[in-house]
Amino acid sequence: MTKYIVQGGKPLFGEVEVSGAKNAAVAIIPAALMVDGVCRIENIPQISDVTLCLKILEQLGANIRTINRHTVEIDCSRIRSTRTSYELARKIRASYYLIGALLGRFGQAEVAMPGGCNFGVRPIDQHVKGFTTLGAKVVVEGGFIHASTDLGRLKGANVYLDVVSVGATMNIMMAAAMAEGNTIIENAAKEPHIVDLANFLNSMGANIRGAGTDTIKIQGVDRLSGGTYAIIPDQIEAGTYMAAVAATGGQILVKNIIPKHMDCITAKLVEMGVEVEEHEDTLLVRRTGSLQKTNVKTLPYPGFPTDMQPQITTVLSLAEGTSLVTESVWKNRYRYVDELKRMGANIQVDDRTAVVEGVDHLTGAPIQACDLRAGAALVIAALAAQGESEISCVQYVERGYEDIVAKLRGLGADIRSVEIPGESDELEAHIG
Ligand code: EPZ
Repeated sequence: MTKYIVQGGKPLFGEVEVSGAKNAAVAIIPAALMVDGVCRIENIPQISDVTLCLKILEQLGANIRTINRHTVEIDCSRIRSTRTSYELARKIRASYYLIGALLGRFGQAEVAMPGGCNFGVRPIDQHVKGFTTLGAKVVVEGGFIHASTDLGRLKGANVYLDVVSVGATMNIMMAAAMAEGNTIIENAAKEPHIVDLANFLNSMGANIRGAGTDTIKIQGVDRLSGGTYAIIPDQIEAGTYMAAVAATGGQILVKNIIPKHMDCITAKLVEMGVEVEEHEDTLLVRRTGSLQKTNVKTLPYPGFPTDMQPQITTVLSLAEGTSLVTESVWKNRYRYVDELKRMGANIQVDDRTAVVEGVDHLTGAPIQACDLRAGAALVIAALAAQGESEISCVQYVERGYEDIVAKLRGLGADIRSVEIPGESDELEAHIG
């Protein structure tokens, strides 16, 4: 098992380069299955979720050529099977995108049910509703989701989402891209990675308009052919480094970002007394004085992202006064709070609300990550805390943050990764 050992209490200074967006990459890689030709994907983050996605494609018959650390060429012109490996697909939440991609191109898909839930029930009823509206039959049998259409090809239709779902929006968009006729997705999610997936598919020959608004219009095409595409920078990774410097104090330049994507996070940090200077594709983030309380409510984009909730709550645990955090996307995303309490944080959770009484300082402790963003929050807490922390289960963190230890060390943090022999890193279930 890998652990992080952190000597906290040091302000961060320097520059950090943001990698490609995880939640775009884990959709765009499955979408490559729809392309009859070679697609070159650039700015791919080096994280374990991406490695898994690529392995799943390979097992289906894709030919994958690694060009460099962040670029791959995927050739899906000779796909052998539409049934994914059970063991691989069940490990990653994003394997649900394989359904939309395979069903869209081949009219059939058999994909293991995505991994277990770490923050409450994570239904996929809206995905299924979309596929059935487009003419598919969907059943769950033997741990697999079987989706198929007798028509050979899906048929375009109007799909109204009952809840704003990132995954359902992207999945239905993929399935509809090669359906016969027109599809309209209403009440669609608007996250930057939705626009990124639409741009990827369009660059391969799809006809998708309106991504980034709540109405997406898709005119089905017969074939997608190859091309080159670069994934957008990761909004949440950038936000995590911003939160880290907010917690520790100091000044960092966050490079390779799209400032517009950061507005919802920047606005909250500024309310807390953090200075943020925006440039073309960088943000200069500085915290010199004390942190002030504020209230945060997570919402679909362009609201404050749920994937930044644990990190911002950690920063607020060090602010003057009492802050309220409301989690309105996931039912149970406060499991990390008990670990923060071990470090001296004063946070009470009641259902979807966390009441955060700021404390003067946190103290280092042995703590354990329970999911990806919870792990990121604990890293931030450890960096800000007085003394040493030992963070276990960091394999969750490495699912979504490329080279986090090296990047933080580049900012002057005292953090190192150590191997503990004899303990396994195998996760029961991945989320993401
Ligand atoms: C994506 O999950 C992300 N995962 C999550 O990021 C992120 O937290 C979430 O979007 C919200 O932004 C990936 O992109 C792989 P949803 P997803 O469908 O698509 C309900 C991270 O840390 N819902 O937008 O699964 C659901 O219960 C991860 O990077 C239904 O009711 O999220 C939730 O309350 C974790 N029925 C809400 O919608 C459905 O069919 C939003 O979920 C689908 C969702």
